[in-house]
Amino acid sequence: MIAAGEVVQRPASVVKELVENAVDAGADRIDVNIVDGGRTLIQVIDNGCGMSQEDAVLCFERHATSKISSAEDLESISTFGFRGEALASIAAIAEVTLRTRRKEDETALEVHFAASQNQGVELTQGPCGSNFMVRNLFYNVPARRKYLKSDLVEFRHIVEEFERVALTRCDIAFSLTHNGKEVFVLKPAPSLKMRIKDLYSSSVASELLDISEQTSVAAFNGFVGRPESARKGQTHQFFFVNGRYFRSPYLSKAVAKAYEGMIPDGMMPSYFIFIDVPPYSVDVNVSPTKTEIKFEEDSIIFSTLFATIKGVLGQQSFGDTLDFGGSRMTEIPISRAYNELHPLRVPDAPLDPDYNPFDTDGFPNEPNPFTSFSNDETSAFTGVSLGGTSSFADASYVDKKESYGKLFEDVQLATSSAIVLDDKYILTQRGASLLVVNIRRARLRVLYEKYYAILSRNGHCTQTALFETPVYVGVENALLLEEHLELLNLLGFEIRMFGNDTIVVSGVPEGFSADSGAVEQVVADVIDILKEKMTTLEEAMLSSMSLRFAQSAVSGGQSFQASEASRLVNDLFACSDSEITPQGKKIYVCLTTADLDKRF
Ligand SMILES: Nc1ncnc2c1ncn2[C@@H]1O[C@H](COP(=O)(O)OP(=O)(O)O)[C@@H](O)[C@H]1O
Ligand SMILES: [Mg+2]
Repeated sequence: MIAAGEVVQRPASVVKELVENAVDAGADRIDVNIVDGGRTLIQVIDNGCGMSQEDAVLCFERHATSKISSAEDLESISTFGFRGEALASIAAIAEVTLRTRRKEDETALEVHFAASQNQGVELTQGPCGSNFMVRNLFYNVPARRKYLKSDLVEFRHIVEEFERVALTRCDIAFSLTHNGKEVFVLKPAPSLKMRIKDLYSSSVASELLDISEQTSVAAFNGFVGRPESARKGQTHQFFFVNGRYFRSPYLSKAVAKAYEGMIPDGMMPSYFIFIDVPPYSVDVNVSPTKTEIKFEEDSIIFSTLFATIKGVLGQQSFGDTLDFGGSRMTEIPISRAYNELHPLRVPDAPLDPDYNPFDTDGFPNEPNPFTSFSNDETSAFTGVSLGGTSSFADASYVDKKESYGKLFEDVQLATSSAIVLDDKYILTQRGASLLVVNIRRARLRVLYEKYYAILSRNGHCTQTALFETPVYVGVENALLLEEHLELLNLLGFEIRMFGNDTIVVSGVPEGFSADSGAVEQVVADVIDILKEKMTTLEEAMLSSMSLRFAQSAVSGGQSFQASEASRLVNDLFACSDSEITPQGKKIYVCLTTADLDKRF
């Protein structure tokens, strides 16, 4: 009745199936031991109901399940697994040992399976519950074994599955070790919030707002992050339906929509959303790994979720979002995300937020260059300060012997100074024209070409040294960074692991802000980039990777030194393309006397 799917794709799938079975068996303590990212050993020990002698052998048969006795049961099944093929699939591609005992039995039983064959059964001593040991995954399917990623990658996937189950059952004690090292030790938690604190950190937990809504279609419970806690990477996003994790790009849009206008583009808050619906109204069997699901009433679920979150966010005025409760204050990383939500704005100044001199060839009527906002790429919010920042640059950069790129090769350069306007524009003379360079876009182009060259040639990037700055990133992200340490090093990051969930940053690529407050943001950006592009460096991703690094480097509102103007202009015109950014936006405009004549 149900098409058999590919159950085991990687070690994490085995962990998922075994842990879910342990939960179904009523365990209140589940220990997971992993060796070599799961390729050598995956062990799951529970103190649940255990199995009878007969079941201990039968459970490895295809379609052996104790969870369905009639076709109707399929509609109301509420346990995790229900297809009775997980253990059979695992036993087909690994060496499996099961030791199990029920309370009512005197002795435990040990069963060995390999390549779907029963290798023998023996009586033994053992505690109540089940202990599954899965060794040498894919040992008999070399093609699949070769296809496994590095231990760190595989272990990261295991952590993902582990977290998903741990979040659904706060009442169960869980532990996870990797190569003998404890990664998580979770006591039974009195509340979901405490479990989140144990899994992540108290700062993650303290940023959460409760959601709770009950309609005739579904019940919604859980937490969403405060708007100012939104990040680019480093957030935790979970949907659960009837106690099971699922992925839903569709519903995550509902969440994003509820935050619209409250957080900068590209950032997301953490959320832990538990939806309960009658079992018959949801199809969890859409994909074999059961992470995609289909709701009967998905548009109603979408709009209710949106309205629920919007309501909760609406109740929070900005003032009380700062009240994290006394002593916890120090644990809250004040990220740039917060500052971006509180840009320095000058009240009552005549503003035209849509005005952008780079979007028009000439000047629009009565522009006020001091109050223009940049509406581009990554900086959704840019602080604007009025006047006072213009300065004269070092005039020495105007060197007639130097070539400034194709556009100006033949132009006789006039001796002139450069003016830096509001940290945003460089104004300088080029021949008979006034050259206006958008600083941010110029830096984006220059850094883009630089990172591109580094990534494609495996060169080394210059580094800015920092004081050692510890940054909490969580277990999963720590693994992600560790996995890409070599690449990050090439790019100029100096990062080392510190415990399971924290890194220490002591260097960032040139161009990134070396200000220690910005390090957390830089790390978040890097995580975000790595999450997006989890594959190795390939030609196809060179440019997007370079672009993301460049965007990340220029995204801060760093002030621009007038003395840097000449170097930036030189670097810009040394680029293979100096006219547009990698995304095709104009980097500079050139105003001739004729253009200016029109204005008078
Ligand atoms: N940890 C466990 N404790 C007790 N029984 C288990 C455990 N794991 C598996 N079983 C038994 O083995 C059966 C087969 O498991 P599985 O192949 O995962 O299928 P399903 O979970 O879909 O029933 C289960 O229905 C259950 O009866
Ligand atoms: Mg199962």
